[in-house]
Amino acid sequence: MTQTVARLMQSPADFSAKAVTLRGWARTLRASRNVGFIELNDGSCMQNVQVVFDPAALYAKPTTGAAIEVRGEVRLTPDAPQPLEVAADEVVVIGDCPPSYPLQKKRHTLEFLRTMPHLRMRTNTLGAVFRLRSLLAFAVHRFFMERGFVHVHTPILTARDCEGAGALFTVTALEPDALDADRAGGFDFEKDFFRARASLTVSGQLDAEAFALCYSRVYTFGPTFRAERSNTARHASEFWMIEPEIAFADLDDDMDLAEEMVRCLIGDALEKAPDEMAFFDRFIQEGLMERLGGILGSDFVRITYTRAIEILSKSGRRFEYPVEWGCDLQTEHERYLTEEVFNRPVFVTDFPRDIKAFYMRANPDGRTVAAMDLLVPGVGEIIGGSQREEREDLLSARMAELGMDPQAYAGYLDLRRFGGAPHAGYGLGFERMLMYVTGMKNIRDVIPYPRTPGCIDS
Ligand code: 4AD
Ligand code: MG
Repeated sequence: MTQTVARLMQSPADFSAKAVTLRGWARTLRASRNVGFIELNDGSCMQNVQVVFDPAALYAKPTTGAAIEVRGEVRLTPDAPQPLEVAADEVVVIGDCPPSYPLQKKRHTLEFLRTMPHLRMRTNTLGAVFRLRSLLAFAVHRFFMERGFVHVHTPILTARDCEGAGALFTVTALEPDALDADRAGGFDFEKDFFRARASLTVSGQLDAEAFALCYSRVYTFGPTFRAERSNTARHASEFWMIEPEIAFADLDDDMDLAEEMVRCLIGDALEKAPDEMAFFDRFIQEGLMERLGGILGSDFVRITYTRAIEILSKSGRRFEYPVEWGCDLQTEHERYLTEEVFNRPVFVTDFPRDIKAFYMRANPDGRTVAAMDLLVPGVGEIIGGSQREEREDLLSARMAELGMDPQAYAGYLDLRRFGGAPHAGYGLGFERMLMYVTGMKNIRDVIPYPRTPGCIDS
């Protein structure tokens, strides 16, 4: 019967002396005249199973990377690191793999592996990352579903710029020469597919807000797009965001939810992916599991932006970007706060309104808004959120101040008139969360096919 490696490893005793068939890929292979060993991996779990074969009995000798089928008998190996091996009666090569296969048995740098996104998940590191990614995506849905949230699919094509940062990818159905012909007089989007300027969404928040003002607790989890030119280890042009939105809630409720979610996701990673987490701990970031485990039991820090600026100014540290009230926090500031001052996750709240988006609720002081960012060691910001401005007059005034077209946001303003209520939400960058949980240092190594400035091959 065809089995998976995962099933064999889960209960080795059940398979003792049993005949099994396995299909997978030869991760490594070595053979002497009398005996050969294949490390077979079928993707069902991180572990390989060792296949012992008689080289003389084989029709075709498999090579590293080949797709193979193995039929043989399970032998328990209580004295070996692996609980069992398979003594092969037959090894069939399903798909050959020539010596030019780039993933021969030696260590490859992550940079080298990025040049082959179609193959790199076959390595231990990327294999573990993408399995964890899958597990955490499921954990996100479970977290919200268990708490009565409704999952909303917000659109990817949109005419609104939620963040107002101008980092939009414009979407057009026109051919490049049609666009060219029009360039002289400024492009007239009336002629385009949607008769308006359309772009890829930077956030599902504005649409999620509408659903929160009906279902009370909703979330969206989907791809978002930003045409930021920043070529850093934490920015991607296409990334996935988890955005809950809750009604009858303020900024404290928002942070409570975020904290509970981050803890729950870490707990799931440690519990449901022990092999992968042990691997990251050993090869990617020493002490990772202990650090993450420590977070499960301690509260996150909560400080205001004003306090954060005070701490940074008094630190005596020379930052590349100087610190003064009103400036946006840079990665170096974020990491100083979370790694060196507090050594755990830190919420920074109540940012100056001028560096934040239009929808954030004005604080009584008139110069800050009810915003929060969650900073974590090793990464910096992983969450950005806020209480939303539910007072129509204040929201309209702010939009006018920023030169926004009220027509384009008529529905959004309606939400403040028709049964409006205080509400709040946040966005968790899924890749940033994965970097935090795996210890991986570059966002390109936690997303299957990274899109970054100048890079969309494959
Ligand atoms: O702080 P941001 O821009 O917040 C929003 O988009 C809000 N509309 C969310 C909300 O309140 N519903 O982005 C949220 C998170 C950031 O904290 C970061 O983790 C991630 O999204 N993020 C990116 N991740 C990877 N690459 C990029 N270019 C990112 N930009 C933001
Ligand atoms: Mg942000």
